[in-house]
This record gives sequence, C-alpha cells and structure tokens, in this order.
Amino acid sequence: MNAALELHGIVKRFGATRVLRGVDLRVAQGERHALIGPNGAGKSTLFDLISGRARPDEGRIVADGIDITGKRPQRVCRTLARSFQTTSVFGGLSVFDNLRCAVLGASSSRFIDRCLPSRRVDARAHAMLDAIGLAARADEPAARLTYAEQRALDLGLALATDAPLILLDEPTAGMNRAEAAHALALIRATTEGRTLLVIEHDMDAVFGLADRISVLVQGRVIATGAPAEIRANRQVQEAYLGFDGVAQ
Ligand SMILES: Nc1ncnc2c1ncn2[C@@H]1O[C@H](COP(=O)(O)OP(=O)(O)O)[C@@H](O)[C@H]1O
Ligand SMILES: [Mg+2]
Repeated sequence: MNAALELHGIVKRFGATRVLRGVDLRVAQGERHALIGPNGAGKSTLFDLISGRARPDEGRIVADGIDITGKRPQRVCRTLARSFQTTSVFGGLSVFDNLRCAVLGASSSRFIDRCLPSRRVDARAHAMLDAIGLAARADEPAARLTYAEQRALDLGLALATDAPLILLDEPTAGMNRAEAAHALALIRATTEGRTLLVIEHDMDAVFGLADRISVLVQGRVIATGAPAEIRANRQVQEAYLGFDGVAQ
C-alpha cells in the first residue's frame, strides 16, 4: 500500500539560511503522526511545502503515490487539507457559511461536471457542524465564537474538504488544559479513518494522540517512532532539554 505521505530529502532556504536541511518522513495510511520540535525548527514551513504554499528548493513530496512537489494548494486540496497555526476562519461569515465555503472550495476545484449540487454542500456542512460540536452556533458570525470554538471550526474547515490526509498546525496552542483535552478528543474522533499529521507542542497531547512521532530539530528529523520509543530516545531528550515534557 502507498504511504499517505512521503517526504524525500526536503530542503528549504530563506536567503542564506537553510531552514529545512534534508527532511525524510513517511506517514502510513490511517496513521496519526505527530511532528514535534522546538520553536523555529521548521515545522510550519514543512506544512507550507506539503500543502503547496511554498516550493521546496530540493526534494520530493509524494502523497498516496503521486508526486505533488510544488503543486499549488488548489491542485492538492483533494488529497490533503490543513489548518494553520493561527485561526483562519472568516470572522464575518456565519459558522455554517464558513463550512460551506470549505466544502465548495474543495469541490469547485474538481472537474466542473463533478461539482457538488448545493443540497449536497449543505448536507456536508451540516454533518461537519455536528461533528465539531458547533450546531448550536451555526448562524453566529465566526468572530463571536470563543477562541477554542474558532479552533474547532478550523478543524471543521479542514475536514469539510473530505481530503484523506489532514495536517493540523498546533491545534491546541493557546488553550487551557480543559479546552486542549476537549480539542484532542474532537481531533481523535473526527479524524478516524483518515490520516493525520499534527504539529503539537503539548507533550501530553502528543503522547496520547499519536501512533508515531517524528522529531524535527534544526531542519532535520532526528527520530521517528512510537511514543514510548521517542520518550526514551536520548537524542530527543537532549534536543528537548529546557522544553516541556520529554526531558522531564
Ligand atoms: N517566509 C519566511 N522568510 C524567512 N524566514 C522564514 C520564513 N518563514 C519561516 N522562516 C524562518 O524559518 C524558521 C522556521 O520557522 P517555522 O517553520 O515557522 O518554525 P516552527 O513552526 O517549527 O516553529 C524560523 O527561523 C523562521 O524565522
Ligand atoms: Mg510553527
């Protein structure tokens, strides 16, 4: 079976700085894979390359056997969907219309004869509303949601595309413990049957959610393995000294 995602030798430079220095990563179909690493390690940059917002200088990105290196976001949105480190909801639109936009955006980039009829769009947006627990807020402008609710909507926007591979960039950042626990439960439930690559800072969250973890340090993956292996990995502990969780 093809891997859901394979990165081969990814290099990205900003000016003279090599932010990513040969990243190799393999995410199996149906796996929940966490990407951890100190601030500035290049995690969000890697998501920008995978999702087509930027091009790698070197290397190949393969999703389900298809080379998507350098393909624009609208070309890869059937394959993968992402959320951003900061919320990206349309504040002036209702929660429901945000979801409709996400469904439409993904469907209208398909061949024209495969566009979804509006009742199918609405049905999918409604299903998503229920899944992310925001049905009671459907008609409210998204700007009026709490921060944690906006992050749930971010998750919904990614999921609404129906893409088999979901990338989430720090979905619990800025949340308190209870909110983060709720968000994680939601992520676990709603990504069932899909492949998840999640950047996460909260170590408890990572160890509870992920089947496998990769550690990015200074632009390279220094370890990949099951949570217990990563916890016990000396190199990871050293890289994380001074950061919360792993080295304690
Ligand atoms: N567009 C850009 N131009 C120049 N430098 C950038 C750009 N985007 C990110 N960087 C730099 O690349 C490094 C990695 O950033 P980032 O991928 O956001 O790290 P992380 O998500 O792991 O915290 C940082 O030093 C950051 O300042
Ligand atoms: Mg980041």
